[in-house]
Amino acid sequence: MDTPTFSPAEKNQIEAFCRKYPTRQSAVMPTLWLAQEKFGELTPPILRLVAETLGLPYAHVEGVATFYTMYLTQRKGKWLIEICTCFTCGECGGRELWDYAEESLSLNQEGVSPDGLFWFREAECLGACDTAPAVQIEGRRMVFSVTPHKLDAILDSLRKGELPPFESVPIRNPD
Ligand code: FES
Repeated sequence: MDTPTFSPAEKNQIEAFCRKYPTRQSAVMPTLWLAQEKFGELTPPILRLVAETLGLPYAHVEGVATFYTMYLTQRKGKWLIEICTCFTCGECGGRELWDYAEESLSLNQEGVSPDGLFWFREAECLGACDTAPAVQIEGRRMVFSVTPHKLDAILDSLRKGELPPFESVPIRNPD
């Protein structure tokens, strides 16, 4: 594989991240996210690229990338689908949704479908308990009140290479 690089536009974007913070170290999270969006996963050569671009020790960048679950140091399937099975979602269908995915797609022990297209993980609270059970796709698209039927529709979209449509969450009036 060729040595990974950032394009001039990406380097400008990273410098813009750095200008928002007092130190370059603080720009490591958005830079890791940019790298993950570009390369799909954060393998050691990509972590090295991030470290060199920011002028940081490799160990610091690796420490951040391996601490937060949003960063993928090893991608196991084309589409990452995280089902919240935490307290509220677990009680409101999240567990059943997980079981449905596991059985209907014959997921292996790592949550990956046999064709490698889908990689399921259980998620901790995604901050959308109000619309449980919540599901997050690729760490950037949330879907709410997910039933097995809705999950099937989401998978159909992903098979076509499309994220499910953006859903806004209604803010409930306490009155
Ligand atoms: S418990 Fe699932 S979003 Fe909070």
